[in-house]
Amino acid sequence: MNNELKEQGYAVVDAPEIDRQALAESFDRLPTDVYLRSGTRSRRFSWFAGTPQSPVKLPHKLFYQTAKYEGRPDIHREFDEIDASVYNHPSFQNILGCFVRVTDVNMANTPIEVHQIRIRAGGGFDGNASPEGVHRDGCHYLGVFVVDRDGVEGGETSVHLNKTDGPIYSEILPPGHFLFIDDEKVMHHALPMTAKTGKKVVYWDIFVLTAGEHRRKE
Ligand SMILES: [Fe+2]
Repeated sequence: MNNELKEQGYAVVDAPEIDRQALAESFDRLPTDVYLRSGTRSRRFSWFAGTPQSPVKLPHKLFYQTAKYEGRPDIHREFDEIDASVYNHPSFQNILGCFVRVTDVNMANTPIEVHQIRIRAGGGFDGNASPEGVHRDGCHYLGVFVVDRDGVEGGETSVHLNKTDGPIYSEILPPGHFLFIDDEKVMHHALPMTAKTGKKVVYWDIFVLTAGEHRRKE
């Protein structure tokens, strides 16, 4: 397991090998996330057991976020599943492999939930990756892997000890970077992003991976 993640509750790790071109088209075809009213987010969701090299996609399920740490109602949301062309691709398997290496999660008994997400901005609207503000996801480990970022201004991803103090980490994550978060120890957030001048519609393509039960008592 990664030492920084263990000690400070977050770590930024350099890229697993990926073929960005091979994944790009699947981001173009992501369905719009109907649960975000602005319509600026597209997403697919699946969960996997097995091993990083031979992921086994588990049966379709609703995505669930608990009210426990958020002060909001329990949320169940349904998304289309990730394409087989994506999860059978060595690039995706390298991303899973990196997640397993850094967190020490054993996929055989702790499935990894994966969100494939595109956030768009431009044409008079901002992109918002974290409309709920500083929050926890309600898992044990969380990883944000950036596949692509085109024409985007801002959108820093940040890590916080609590909802009120400023961030202990805040960076614009470039393509290929993988931010890991221990969701039991720290909270996270992402600032809105805008389109660079002269750009029409821009986007940020990410995989968000989560695993494990939250064991906090509060
Ligand atoms: Fe989150």
